[in-house]
Amino acid sequence: MKILVTGGCGYIGSHTCVELLEHGYEVIVVDNLVNSKRDVIDKIKEITGKSVIFYEGNVQEEKLLVSIFKKHKIDAVIHFAGLKAVGESVKKPILYYQNNLDSTLVLLKVMEQFDVKKIIFSSSATVYGSQNKVPFKESDPVGGTTNPYGTSKLFIEHILEDLVVAAPEFHVVILRYFNPIGAHKSGLIGDNPNGIPNNLMPYITKVASGELEYLNVFGNDYPTKDGTGVRDYIHVVDLADGHVKALDKVTKEKGIHIYNLVTGIGYSVLEIVSAFEAVNQIKIPYVIKERRDGDIAECYADVQKAKKELGFQTKYGIQDMVRDSYQFYIKKK
Ligand code: NAD
Ligand code: UFG
Repeated sequence: MKILVTGGCGYIGSHTCVELLEHGYEVIVVDNLVNSKRDVIDKIKEITGKSVIFYEGNVQEEKLLVSIFKKHKIDAVIHFAGLKAVGESVKKPILYYQNNLDSTLVLLKVMEQFDVKKIIFSSSATVYGSQNKVPFKESDPVGGTTNPYGTSKLFIEHILEDLVVAAPEFHVVILRYFNPIGAHKSGLIGDNPNGIPNNLMPYITKVASGELEYLNVFGNDYPTKDGTGVRDYIHVVDLADGHVKALDKVTKEKGIHIYNLVTGIGYSVLEIVSAFEAVNQIKIPYVIKERRDGDIAECYADVQKAKKELGFQTKYGIQDMVRDSYQFYIKKK
């Protein structure tokens, strides 16, 4: 089967390409490298011994997509391409809406044109807003997003729902991710953000390596186990494996299916710091700061639906996640 992976050079996309190749799928990647590097394609080959076909370009460009769909008989699409920095989205809403919505609309239009009716979309925990109680369930109401990035994910979920009403022959799986961390065990691919990271794990790895002096812990007065924010961290390789499982589902079943891809376990910021210190034998100095705008106290989810309907089961624990995150960082330097 031929799978088109948009955003396949990115963090989650690259790990998913590896899993797909290892499961015997043929993979075609389209990515404009706005948040990734071309050498990821070589790294994927180094890990798997197999090549992906790579197109450098923007998913918003209809002509490019048409040429890809003409050239390859694509069976299904996994749509990762999107901008994802929450803070940047507040400053550049038009860029975020245009990139994330246009790329999806153009992609869906071209898919319809070529009679390709199977798509997996990367959504986010952000669609649960702040009105629901943890653990979040797929049946919880969505909305109340607090930034353009989150709202773009919400809009795309609605677009896909409307599409399936109009075209019930479409097969759609929406995957809601929470906090992917870790990296492939080879240390060749991983989370590689430019500049000073926003997310916890890339920030910790920079403190560990001495590039940054200390970690800012955003708030220790939340109603959580130790006062710091709690999140559902998942090893990116487990997350990638979830896409292979979702592909089975999208191949077989019509309609729209939504899954949280999570472990179901919440760890606090200080628990992550402790695990990182213990596993990597490095002290992480930290300073308690004010709460970060837009953060919620706890964000973790129920994994039962994905477990039951996809057979999704995570293999890696928090020790693996903090070890592999750091190994990737050291190797990359
Ligand atoms: P990433 O930035 O590492 O990967 C996204 C890739 O898409 C990048 O390689 C980028 O160059 C590419 N891209 C962006 N816009 C494009 C366009 N218009 N045309 C072609 N390529 C384009 O991000 P990631 O962490 O791998 O996330 C993948 C998807 O999952 C994104 O849609 C993101 O919003 C979503 N998501 C990520 C997280 C997370 O914590 N990493 C959480 C929830 C949802
Ligand atoms: N944190 C710190 N210091 C830092 C960075 C983060 O204390 O330097 C804390 C945050 O306050 C939060 C936790 O670590 O409690 C995790 O923060 P991240 O920035 O790593 O992740 P978020 O949970 O804020 O965001 C993630 C994804 C977003 C997505 C959101 C949905 O990165 O794309 O989940 O809930 F929108």
